[in-house]
Amino acid sequence: MITTLAVQNYRTLRDFIVPLGELNVITGANGSGKSNTYRALRLLAETAQGGVIRSLAREGGLASTLWAGPESLSSAMRSGDAPIQGGPRRKSVSMGLGFAGSVFSYSIDLGFPAPSMSAFSLDPIIKGECVWAGALPRPSAMLVQRRGALVRSRGDTGKWQVLHEHLADFDSMVFNIADPVQAPELLALREQIRSWRFYDHFRTDEGAAARMPQIGTHTPVLSHDGSDLAAALQTIREIGDPQALRAAVADAFPGASVSIESNDGRFETVMQQQGLLRQLKAVELSDGTLRYLLLVAALLSPRPPKLLVLNEPETSLHPDLLPALGRLIAHAAQRSQVIVVSHAQRLVAALEEQGGICLQLEKDFGETRVQNLDDLDRPPWQWVSRY
Ligand SMILES: Nc1ncnc2c1ncn2[C@@H]1O[C@H](COP(=O)(O)OP(=O)(O)OP(=O)(O)O)[C@@H](O)[C@H]1O
Ligand SMILES: [Mg+2]
Repeated sequence: MITTLAVQNYRTLRDFIVPLGELNVITGANGSGKSNTYRALRLLAETAQGGVIRSLAREGGLASTLWAGPESLSSAMRSGDAPIQGGPRRKSVSMGLGFAGSVFSYSIDLGFPAPSMSAFSLDPIIKGECVWAGALPRPSAMLVQRRGALVRSRGDTGKWQVLHEHLADFDSMVFNIADPVQAPELLALREQIRSWRFYDHFRTDEGAAARMPQIGTHTPVLSHDGSDLAAALQTIREIGDPQALRAAVADAFPGASVSIESNDGRFETVMQQQGLLRQLKAVELSDGTLRYLLLVAALLSPRPPKLLVLNEPETSLHPDLLPALGRLIAHAAQRSQVIVVSHAQRLVAALEEQGGICLQLEKDFGETRVQNLDDLDRPPWQWVSRY
């Protein structure tokens, strides 16, 4: 489980260190940094897939994603007596992403390359990465450390050994070093991060694949766009928790039930709704109903991830459905750590009622802050210095 999420100098997240529990909901006004938090988590996940630099480039590169405010705000700037201005930098430019976990903690430090002849001068580079045990990266807790191109791990004897001397500055050690003997922590960390699952946007429009019959194969994990809904629901019925599936549908739509019709190996989702003489096919369901079924399939996956992140799952759902969605999410949080980014007050309230931690974001001079962080504990965190 991730116990702390830490982000530094990424968009509005200048100094963002928050505690996480089994069930978390991130909310706040427009522009307060909810989507930035979601994106930061995705970026972290990309490191384990080898794609952090490419993902950053897609977002406009480091220059665009780096905190656009001053390095620090003086009290005169805060009170309006002095203009907001940068002044000479005291520290080198660094974007940091990291988390503390119940087993391992990890952080990555991204920066600008030194001026060179390379045409890729806008690519950020990985300046450092660390894996350690426990909350803080004390020297004695450090397990694997990368500085520039050099990666070292601490062996069983406690002595440092070199794992790689020339790791490219766009390659993450988590993705590129697979040494089960000298650095089992890296492999474990990679497997952990790879199991994180993100759901951002399901297609429910008229042409959405979830509305069409499809070839049915075992689908323990719903795809990101929800295109294999029927197969995922059938998989839950056969090897998952069919009772939870029935309960989730009935909780949201009293008297309704869902089944899967199979014709020549092609699956189609059908729903019996209260008061109707025949079942409705997926193509006939409303956007909100289909989206709810997609969320059911995602949340009741027979292969639960270590971490499940949902971005605005309330989209196009009627507020009356949100308490049922809250219960469904809380059910999923018994098997996975869950982070929900949400605008919807009723969903936030439902998740809080189920024991979720609520991070209420607000913007303070362009920077994301957590309103109620004093009530929660600000977790211990420390960025590892470059030199
Ligand atoms: N490099 C940057 N430095 C500082 N702020 C930035 C940077 N890039 C984007 N922002 C700010 O981030 C904010 C958007 O944050 P985000 O998308 O996380 O908001 P949100 O909470 O998801 O809002 P909404 O509810 O509208 O979706 C914008 O106000 C924008 O000004
Ligand atoms: Mg947003």
